[in-house]
Amino acid sequence: MKSTVLCGLLMIGLVSSAGAQLKDRFKDCFRIGAALNQAQFDERDTRGADIVKAQFNTISPENVLKWESVHPKPDGYTFEQADRYVAFGEKNDMFVIGHTLVWHSQTPRWVFEDDKGAPLSREALLERMRGHIQTVVGRYKGRIKGWDVVNEALNEDGTFRQSPWFKIIGEEFIAKAFGFAHEADPDAELYYNDYSLENDAKRNGAIALIKKLQEQGIPVTAVGLQGHDKMESPTIEQQAAAIEAFSRLGIKVNITELDIDVLPAKLNPYPDGLPDSVQQALARRYADLFGVFVKDCGVVSRVTFWGVTDGDSWLNNWPVRGRTAYPLLFDRNGQPKPAFNAVVGVK
Ligand code: XIL
Repeated sequence: MKSTVLCGLLMIGLVSSAGAQLKDRFKDCFRIGAALNQAQFDERDTRGADIVKAQFNTISPENVLKWESVHPKPDGYTFEQADRYVAFGEKNDMFVIGHTLVWHSQTPRWVFEDDKGAPLSREALLERMRGHIQTVVGRYKGRIKGWDVVNEALNEDGTFRQSPWFKIIGEEFIAKAFGFAHEADPDAELYYNDYSLENDAKRNGAIALIKKLQEQGIPVTAVGLQGHDKMESPTIEQQAAAIEAFSRLGIKVNITELDIDVLPAKLNPYPDGLPDSVQQALARRYADLFGVFVKDCGVVSRVTFWGVTDGDSWLNNWPVRGRTAYPLLFDRNGQPKPAFNAVVGVK
């Protein structure tokens, strides 16, 4: 037992000292990236920034381009952080992603209300949406290469989520958002992004939605499968079937927010470190998923992790605050985990 552990540690050491890089490993297949927080793109977190520069060729903004961050008040935009995020990506020759234009979450309440606090009319909300998209997409025209235009518009059963966007505008809010984004930057890639799209009902809802957009001549470049995965779900078969089903629409598939939650609901079982058996199971799970992504090379055109190291992950505070999560490829000390080696070594 001890010698296997030692052997494993030596192997990790060898691979990391040999300088294995995700972006080189997958360069003929897909872009590979991470969502960044402010400390990383400002390079205050030098360890994190160094990992990003060494390993990834595309970045996503974890929070700084959400509505509440760039447009907190009706007449006020705040672009300082987003500007620095984009500059970091450009300086390092990265494919810079924008996340996200139209979402029900992290969007201030005033967006849906008039100055007296009454619900906005359909026309007024469309006008507000147009203004926001033109301003934000327009500011980074030619620099942000792909946008999550609409995030999480569907329920688990494939019907439309009853968000304020949907309630006030109707399902046309999605076509409108894509139209405004295309107008603001005709060269930008435009994405529909959601989670659990590997489940049949939700997948079928998304397929119907994208087909309808295509019939109206709306340019959808890719679907984003968020990929907030568990150890058992989605199954490898579901993952492969989802990629295949979306590819039949003639669009690309991006894995946009990948992480694998090893923690059971509501518990914090590993505050002091991940047991080796779970560590190895996580590595196998990552290898299995990347096996699918690599097989669908070309259709899958980007794989982005939602965070850099385990310590940065949103899963330390969701769905329960203050847990110790282990969902990514780099540990809390910035060291590559067995899962990193498993991903690099995938055939
Ligand atoms: C999360 C961020 O990681 C957190 O920092 C923030 O507090 C909440 O949002 N789906 C998405 C992402 O599309 O924007 C979310 O990001 C995670 C789930």
